[in-house]
Amino acid sequence: MSSPGGISVSARGLTRRFDGFVAVDRVSFDVRKGEVFGLLGPNGAGKSTILRMLCGLLAPTEGEATVAGLDVRTAPESVKQHIGYMSQRFSLYEDLTVEENVDFFAGIYRIPGGRKRERKEWAVRMAGLEGHRRTRTAHLSGGWKQRLALGCAILHEPPVLFLDEPTSGTDPFSRRAFWDLIYALSGAGTTVFVTTHHMDEAEHCDRLGLVYRGELAALGSPSALKAGMARKETTGPSLEDVFVSIVEERDRMAGPVAEVRR
Ligand SMILES: Nc1ncnc2c1ncn2[C@@H]1O[C@H](COP(=O)(O)OP(=O)(O)O)[C@@H](O)[C@H]1O
Ligand SMILES: [Mg+2]
Repeated sequence: MSSPGGISVSARGLTRRFDGFVAVDRVSFDVRKGEVFGLLGPNGAGKSTILRMLCGLLAPTEGEATVAGLDVRTAPESVKQHIGYMSQRFSLYEDLTVEENVDFFAGIYRIPGGRKRERKEWAVRMAGLEGHRRTRTAHLSGGWKQRLALGCAILHEPPVLFLDEPTSGTDPFSRRAFWDLIYALSGAGTTVFVTTHHMDEAEHCDRLGLVYRGELAALGSPSALKAGMARKETTGPSLEDVFVSIVEERDRMAGPVAEVRR
């Protein structure tokens, strides 16, 4: 993908410790504006902790990061205003109706009066919930909840969107529809930063960081990562093969990673 100009998210030596336990260890990368960037890794690898630091929700122990030009250490509140964030649990109020949830988030993001009606309508339509405005959120299927949560997270049209395992618990059809929405957003210039432990989902990203034991074990596009491995092994490795091979190599030796390029 050609660079559409500018770096949207940048991390340098980003580190987070919890009582001496290193959850994220000196992670560095850049994400370009409009890029779909994925963090792939097993449970407990440190993906959510990286994401929460970038969202200004958790202070880094060491290192630096900027999001939309804002420093997450010194301006976490500003960062929160300039991003959309969908947590691992969809963060919707189950006992509210579809419309009430959208209203609630419009209030949180302080969307001005005139714009509010337009954005709320847009979110309901995007989620395909025009006929369900007064349905309680608890009664929606996983895929609908997911699209509603996405709509609520981007009501204020943030330049950067963070999605933490957004498709866990939804069916393949909904997953497909969700990724179509992500591509549309990215095509319109939104940077999308997503975590996942699904290999098939990782294939949808422009570039990937493989996270293992808190470290960034590899960085590159899915095709570059696979091509890098094909040179060493047999032809046609899957991303899973790449991941397993990198993890095994990582277990033998540690050190900084260089981005894999074609
Ligand atoms: N608030 C916390 N206190 C202590 N340990 C934590 C906290 N948050 C995460 N961890 C630990 O950090 C590691 C990485 O967690 P996390 O970032 O949630 O991983 P992932 O999202 O890749 O599954 C895990 O071992 C987890 O138990
Ligand atoms: Mg997580």
